[in-house]
Amino acid sequence: MKKIFLAAMPAVIALLVTSCGNQPASTEHPAMASKPAAPTGAEIYKTTCVACHQANGEGMPNTYPPLAKSDYLADKNAVIKQVLKGSSGAITVNGKEYNNTMPPQQLSDDDMAAVLTYVYSNFGNSGPAVTAADVKSVRAAL
Ligand code: HEC
Repeated sequence: MKKIFLAAMPAVIALLVTSCGNQPASTEHPAMASKPAAPTGAEIYKTTCVACHQANGEGMPNTYPPLAKSDYLADKNAVIKQVLKGSSGAITVNGKEYNNTMPPQQLSDDDMAAVLTYVYSNFGNSGPAVTAADVKSVRAAL
């Protein structure tokens, strides 16, 4: 009796191993979800732009120009350049002159694309999506 049992053991072990071998596939998804997600455009806006341009994108009268319905947004490459390089001096937005300084923003191409796509699709704006490739080509031409 004992011998038969022992002889059957390898088959039992093999069965256990193969049936366990199927399990990692079902646990793969939660493992991937625990990877830190890239910040969204909204999150980047809140940490990077909100202090000046405000939560509603309206800016501050005479100090920070609005992003909400800004006519400046018509030129996507100019907007990318503005955020990459910043600016100081006179700038006219929606017919009003501002004369202040925006520091260059240190963001990756992906983060820049995300925050600008957020700006273009919020605050009453409806503009194009900005891609990392768009940012890369403007950055290369600076
Ligand atoms: C420290 C304040 C400050 C921060 C932070 C800042 N800006 Fe600005 N931004 C300004 C000022 C001031 C101007 C106008 C600069 C001038 O007078 O030359 C401006 C101009 C702009 C313009 C062009 C004019 C307009 O209103 O359409 C855009 C677009 C813009 N900013 C987007 C952003 C985005 C996107 C971020 C975040 C990634 C950001 N800015 C962060 C202060 C800031």
